[in-house]
Order: sequence, then structure tokens, then C-alpha cells
Amino acid sequence: MELCVALDHEEFSKNIALAKELREFDIWMKVGFRSFLRDGRAIIDELKSINPNFKLFLDLKLYDIPNTMADAAQEIAKMGVDMFNIHASSGKKAMQTVMERLGEGDDRPLVLAVTALTSFDEDSFKEIYGDSIDAKAAQFAKEAYRVGVDGVVCSAFESRDIKLSTNDSFLTLTPGIRPFGESSDDQKRVADLNLAKEQSVDIIVVGRPIYKADKPREVVERILSNL
Ligand code: C5P
Repeated sequence: MELCVALDHEEFSKNIALAKELREFDIWMKVGFRSFLRDGRAIIDELKSINPNFKLFLDLKLYDIPNTMADAAQEIAKMGVDMFNIHASSGKKAMQTVMERLGEGDDRPLVLAVTALTSFDEDSFKEIYGDSIDAKAAQFAKEAYRVGVDGVVCSAFESRDIKLSTNDSFLTLTPGIRPFGESSDDQKRVADLNLAKEQSVDIIVVGRPIYKADKPREVVERILSNL
């Protein structure tokens, strides 16, 4: 299991200070809406210069018509990030078009499809998707797998079933992780490290428990020693 730190600070300089503090670790760094809208490509380039071995995940959750998603995917690939994501609910055609446009090359970024956002509870999910989280997450994951997507973003609770119904090598990345049972904030389906391990999660995403901590480095060390 690998750790991905969400760089969701309200200022560029704070994200950069955090990345510098964590530069010695073999971890993923997640750049999301907030940072990317504010800082654009500069944050990607800066992170690479801090540690060329940081693995970079651009979390923009693309959702649009297939051609527009594939255009965006190509632009993201040019930035040299290691992974980005799209919404599985954008449909099979959209996911397939993205994968075809990226091609087979080894140097393309990994693509993950978002199944159900971890901030949904059953009722709010059903209101939009008309089915249970489990059923829809399983369906979305199978569709993503069949069209060649590399893995899914899901909650830790769905990871093992998704691997069973697709393939063990189909990646699962799970946000909503509270490593040692910290406050869940606005997340509804949170899991700790033990549950993530039981569920064979490949990459856990941790945001606030790290970037809001007094000593983020110590939290990261503690997480890594428990993986
Ligand atoms: O602070 P916290 O650990 O809750 O942060 C989780 C991060 O993962 C945030 O950046 C959020 O946007 C992202 N995320 C999520 N649920 C998803 C996909 C991404 O919480 N399904």
C-alpha cells in the first residue's frame, strides 16, 4: 500500500512548504482543484523540482463529452504527471475515448475512474444515481476495467469486491482515510489504515489529518511505518 498526500492548503507557499518537509519520503502528492485552479502548472513543476521522485496525481475528476475529455487527457499527459482521474459516470464511451487517445505507451499517466465520491452517504447517492453505492461502484468499476482504465477511486469499503470482480492488478485508490481514527470532517465513509489493508487498497489518500497536523512529518512517518 502506498501513501498519497493531498495538497489542499489555501496557499501555494504552504503546499510547497509541506512538500519540502516531506521531500525525503517515497510518496504520492495529490494536486486537486484548489491548487491547480490557483497555481496551474507551476505547482506541478515546483513539486518535481523539490523531489523528482515524487509521484504526482492530478485530481481534477474530468467529466465532459468524450472528445473534450480526451483533449484534456492529452494536455494532462503533456504535463508529465504520473496519474489523473475521470468520472466513471461520464460513461463507457468517454472512458474508452480517453484511453484510446492516450495510447498504449509506457510513459502515459495512469488513469483512474471515480466510482462514488466518499462524501456521499447512501441516501444522497441514491438520489442522483438511483441505486446503492455498492451496486453502482461495482458496475462503474467493471465498465472502467473493460475499456482499459488502470483503476478506480473508491471508498476503502469497496476495494476488495472491486478487485474480485475485475482483477487484482486493477488499482484502487481510496480517499476518506483517517489513519488512526481522526475526525471524519465532511467525509461520510471513512476508514482507518487497518481497514484499508484488509481491503487490499493500493493507494490511500490522506489530506487534513496530514496537512492540518502540527507536525505533518511525524504523521507521515507514523502512517508509513504502519503500512
Ligand atoms: O482531507 P481529506 O483527507 O478528507 O481529503 C481527501 C482528498 O481526497 C480531498 O482532496 C478530496 O478532494 C479527495 N477526494 C475525495 N473523495 C473522492 C475523490 C477525491 O475525498 N472520491
